[in-house]
Amino acid sequence: MRIVFATGNAGKMREIRDILADVDAEVLSLKELGLKSEAEEDGETFEENARIKVREIFDILNGRHEMHNTLIMADDSGLCIDALGGEPGVHSARFMGHDTDYKIKNAAILKQLEDVPDNKRGAAFVCHISAIDEDGRLYDAEDDMPGAISRESRGAEGFGYDPIFYLPEFGKTSGELSEEEKNAISHRGKVLRKMRDILLNCGIISMKQ
Ligand code: IMP
Repeated sequence: MRIVFATGNAGKMREIRDILADVDAEVLSLKELGLKSEAEEDGETFEENARIKVREIFDILNGRHEMHNTLIMADDSGLCIDALGGEPGVHSARFMGHDTDYKIKNAAILKQLEDVPDNKRGAAFVCHISAIDEDGRLYDAEDDMPGAISRESRGAEGFGYDPIFYLPEFGKTSGELSEEEKNAISHRGKVLRKMRDILLNCGIISMKQ
């Protein structure tokens, strides 16, 4: 059995390899297969975007008759801010432009929320994972990591919006958590574990003996 995770992100690959370590499957990145995702992630939900990604890779591998004993997984995630009606949400990566530095994006969000009181600064990182098996059957799971938008940017760990995402139970932003601490509570970690259980229960994957 092999599981192909449709991402070019090395951090995500480390996390998925860690969570699937006891599963009897070889976990491969797109890079290891010599593939690159080019699909436009223009869905209106995290689920639609995750499905766009797995279907793109499914079509390529299926067209080459290389789907035997293969499962493709992909995730889509983003930051949903209550005071902005759930934005940037599915537009998180594109917010203010794909290549804009997150220092600029984060500063703009803090400015937009300048007058928003503490009890209205709720936000959540949401992650959806879709998987597709060799018969084209889809499996889906979603979860989130709730928190709030901080008053200032803090921490050099993590990536993206982590420095402005405050976790009250830690008294820190997710940009101040170690990779291990964040993986234990993160939206992506939670959904990966959910997806692992769904696939184990369906008999699509099994544990190492
Ligand atoms: P994608 O799921 O790789 O398309 O990423 C979506 C975007 O959401 C990222 O580019 C980040 O802007 C944001 N994002 C998702 N998860 C996190 C996180 O754990 N920390 C910070 N930003 C995140």
